[in-house]
Amino acid sequence: MDLNVKIKRYNPEKDDAPHWETYEVPAEPDDSALSLLLYVKWHLDGTLTFRKSCAHGICGSDAMKINGENKLACSVLLQDLVSGDGDTITFAPLPAAPVIKDLVIDQSRFFEKYRAVKPWLMTEGPAPEREREQTQEEFNVIEDATKCIMCGACTHACPSTWSDPDYLGPAAMLKAYRYTFDTRDDGDEERLPVLDSDKGLWKCYTIFNCNQACPKDIDITRWLSALKRRSLTAA
Ligand code: FES
Repeated sequence: MDLNVKIKRYNPEKDDAPHWETYEVPAEPDDSALSLLLYVKWHLDGTLTFRKSCAHGICGSDAMKINGENKLACSVLLQDLVSGDGDTITFAPLPAAPVIKDLVIDQSRFFEKYRAVKPWLMTEGPAPEREREQTQEEFNVIEDATKCIMCGACTHACPSTWSDPDYLGPAAMLKAYRYTFDTRDDGDEERLPVLDSDKGLWKCYTIFNCNQACPKDIDITRWLSALKRRSLTAA
């Protein structure tokens, strides 16, 4: 089939504003959306700019807005996006961040927020002789959150992020959940005050956009609700 691939293009060195360009691309139903972008770049316009690395849903670098929804381009098949020959598929950068070029956004603030929640194990007391152990049951509590690949699809799907650029966002707070509920972590006193604010947990209105956008099907809203309860009981 041939598809119309409509891409939001923007080159800050040449363009006053973003604009749409459309390319005709041959494709098979079981191709990924990423393959369309690669075709355009390799055969039609080498200036097209986007991020990708693993092409297997692991690195999280090719999150973008595809047909209006935040997705990983490498992890979505065309048969789930279009019905056949002549259909149009749209690609735009993730919203709520400055565009560097075409589909590449500036993720600086996203990672600032990630660092703000201190996403590492904080421990007290002397280090053990060997590793810090954890039972399977203890790990089960955080396992879902450990699947996060930091693609940003959730944070950029959240209206609270759109309305307040300082909002921590679901990705950073999910990472905070992962460490707060890790039984080896002693960091509540340092981490929870960052979350317990109207730029953090209390700007999450539980609308589930993050769950819908997550390419790893993480139950983000559930874990953020658990983090809210932890924040309240720790206060
Ligand atoms: S290219 Fe790595 S997640 Fe898609």
